Amino acid sequence: MDIMNRLTPERFRDVDDVLAFISIYDDVQRSYAYRHMLYSLQGLIQGAVCVEAGCGLGLFSAEMAQLGARKVYAVEQNPILAEMARERLAGFAQIEVIHAPIQEFDPPEPVDFLLHEFYGQLLYDEDLFSLDQLKFRPGYVAPNGGELLAGVFPANEFTDEIVSLDLLKRLNGVLVSGLFDESEAELAFPVMQWRYGQPFSLQQRYRIHDVDGELLAFGVQISHNGQPICRAGSCENWSHVWTYRSGETFQFTFIPGQAGEEVEFTWLDEL
Ligand SMILES: C[S@@+](CC[C@H](N)C(=O)[O-])C[C@H]1O[C@@H](n2cnc3c(N)ncnc32)[C@H](O)[C@@H]1O
Repeated sequence: MDIMNRLTPERFRDVDDVLAFISIYDDVQRSYAYRHMLYSLQGLIQGAVCVEAGCGLGLFSAEMAQLGARKVYAVEQNPILAEMARERLAGFAQIEVIHAPIQEFDPPEPVDFLLHEFYGQLLYDEDLFSLDQLKFRPGYVAPNGGELLAGVFPANEFTDEIVSLDLLKRLNGVLVSGLFDESEAELAFPVMQWRYGQPFSLQQRYRIHDVDGELLAFGVQISHNGQPICRAGSCENWSHVWTYRSGETFQFTFIPGQAGEEVEFTWLDEL
């Protein structure tokens, strides 16, 4: 979905975010995985003060209320989504919708449980960074981990007459999501990981000297307590991100900004 008319930059950003966001609910596997995780954590949610960081339309805030949370703060920075969540959750006396960035939310009581889904296609490029900027320290965070996985392939396994090796070479240094059809099997090894509460380096390098192939694919995996719960390829909300392989060592740099984290990607030893 693309916005076709001219809008103020602020209105454009708010609406663009909503349009990008609503497709997550087409991802049935993602919703199932999150619900399954919440049910498995019901013992921690019952009677607890919970926060959903970035609640969207508030489906999982409602789920936490139904699982017995004493209080749920559903925090959302997008004004359109926050208003919609407020209307949709009006029937739950224990849910309070807060329109604010999670980094600015200062709860009036200790928070026992925080739920979020801040994973980008490249793991750290949506808003995991904001979880290190909180004004409160949640007793428990779910999910609490994630990995960026990768695979390297001979280009001719994927290219055709139009998206050819020649075209790929001209995209050198560019990360493109959804360029080819994907399947889970393509993601063979982890290149970076995030664990809540542990330092995450904003600049990371990885060497792939021991694998052949001109095509590199990345894909995110969400995990909780070390167990995968959702993965690019099986959860359609996350596409694989493809790039031409033109070296042995690549480097990611994440740059925190106003609308999540920007990504720089470079080959350090271009062949
Ligand atoms: C991927 S959606 C997840 C929505 C919902 N938690 C779910 O899983 O269905 C991320 C949501 O977080 C919101 N968001 C992103 N960064 C945020 C921040 N720093 N503070 C509050 N909301 C944020 C976005 O506007 C979006 O609605």
